Amino acid sequence: MSQPKHSKPSDALPAWQWNEMQQVGTDYADTAEVARYERRMGQFRNLAAEDAAILDLLALPKGSRILEIGTGTGHFALAAAASGHRVTALDISSAMLQFAADRANAAGLSEVEFRKAGFLTFTAAPAEFDAAVSVAVLHHLPDVWKAVALCKIHRTLKPGGRFVLRDVVFSSNDRDPRGQFDAIIRTVPPAMRPEFTMHIAKEYSTLDWIMEGLLARAGFALQKINAAQAPLVEYLCAAERPRD
Ligand SMILES: C[S@@+](CC[C@H](N)C(=O)[O-])C[C@H]1O[C@@H](n2cnc3c(N)ncnc32)[C@H](O)[C@@H]1O
Repeated sequence: MSQPKHSKPSDALPAWQWNEMQQVGTDYADTAEVARYERRMGQFRNLAAEDAAILDLLALPKGSRILEIGTGTGHFALAAAASGHRVTALDISSAMLQFAADRANAAGLSEVEFRKAGFLTFTAAPAEFDAAVSVAVLHHLPDVWKAVALCKIHRTLKPGGRFVLRDVVFSSNDRDPRGQFDAIIRTVPPAMRPEFTMHIAKEYSTLDWIMEGLLARAGFALQKINAAQAPLVEYLCAAERPRD
């Protein structure tokens, strides 16, 4: 069973490179926050149902290789491994990776490799993976770096490989999104409001048309958009040839 591996130090990167190793908003590098995150998610999300729904969408044969970016406490990676897939799970937080690796060890799941790396710093061979998944992570990057990240994911997928992206994405129906932000805060359970307020203020969730454009530009065909839990939006995409 894997212990988290470490990638190259970020000082090897050019000075203009976005430093994704620095946590934005909530500090998931803090061990106490990892335990708090696990408790909050257990309270407000049905993680087993979410993970099963993503696996259904991917509809992969057993033994497929899945890349998960931003695994957090590892619930999806473990569910995918338990379904017979081989998973490479990335996160920039050593504390999250340790939590997830301990959990995989305890469950006797050996088909997960945990790596300390993110969207911008992971290395993979072209077409190495059958599918990719990322839930509640891409909003840590400003839009220009989201574009870089999506192109990297596209390159790492086999032609036609599926990508499930779920994240907070704002609707462009209102010309002024401030009313939307207030409405979202009101509908979030009270215990989640401080985190969600910080999310809007300090993290980089974007608008629907920008996200759809970034996915298309990276070479993804949008197969399904599910906004039933807006502002959490799920995109099922397939890796097509990128635009010239
Ligand atoms: C909100 S949690 C989501 C975790 C998990 N995917 C889930 O659905 O519960 C965000 C995770 O993304 C990680 N993260 C932040 N920036 C990242 C990046 N650039 N690349 C990969 N992971 C990142 C954080 O360390 C944290 O574990």
